[in-house]
Amino acid sequence: AWSGVLSMIIAYFIGSISTSTLVVRWVSGRDIRSEGSGNAGATNTMRTIGLKWGVLVLLFDGLKGAIALWIAHAMAPHAMWALALSAVAVVVGHNWPVFFGFRGGKGIATTIGVLLWLAPLSAVIAGLVCLAVIAVTRYVSLGSLVFVCLVPILIAVFRFEGWTFAASVVLALLAVYRHRSNIHRLLHGTERRIFDRTSEGV
Ligand code: G3P
Repeated sequence: AWSGVLSMIIAYFIGSISTSTLVVRWVSGRDIRSEGSGNAGATNTMRTIGLKWGVLVLLFDGLKGAIALWIAHAMAPHAMWALALSAVAVVVGHNWPVFFGFRGGKGIATTIGVLLWLAPLSAVIAGLVCLAVIAVTRYVSLGSLVFVCLVPILIAVFRFEGWTFAASVVLALLAVYRHRSNIHRLLHGTERRIFDRTSEGV
């Protein structure tokens, strides 16, 4: 049991490596948390310093999730509870990073990383729906919210496993909580769209 708890703590520290804050600081000298939406994530990196850097941050933040679960799996083999708690812990680290004054992101890239490990089929299907939503609406936040809410439903339908399902529900709740301001803007029609210069500063 101790190895499971330890893997959870390690996951929190891995999540706390805020790649968007580091990349934007290195590339432009700016603090991403004072730019655009103020969020330390892939979307805001793209908004602030360009598409390729946003994709890079998306990949690295996703990798954090996969690496954390790979470690949890190695430390506590077959302990689904340890995987589930580590999945939540790495996203909590990303959202509230100990190394960056607890000011992090909204956890979507890292959630994609852990869900690809825990429930690949559900994650891929929800991911395709998410991409379609973003392509049509150009709201990344709306796509993210559809993704996190869809995954628990798909897990329940395709391959129900208690700990995986519980983790996906907690991850969805965390994401909705972190997207409070986006939800508010979506409801008021003032949310930023990607690839749109005119909504700058909204
Ligand atoms: O994952 C974050 C994304 O859903 C929204 O980011 O910067 O537009 O609030 P942002």
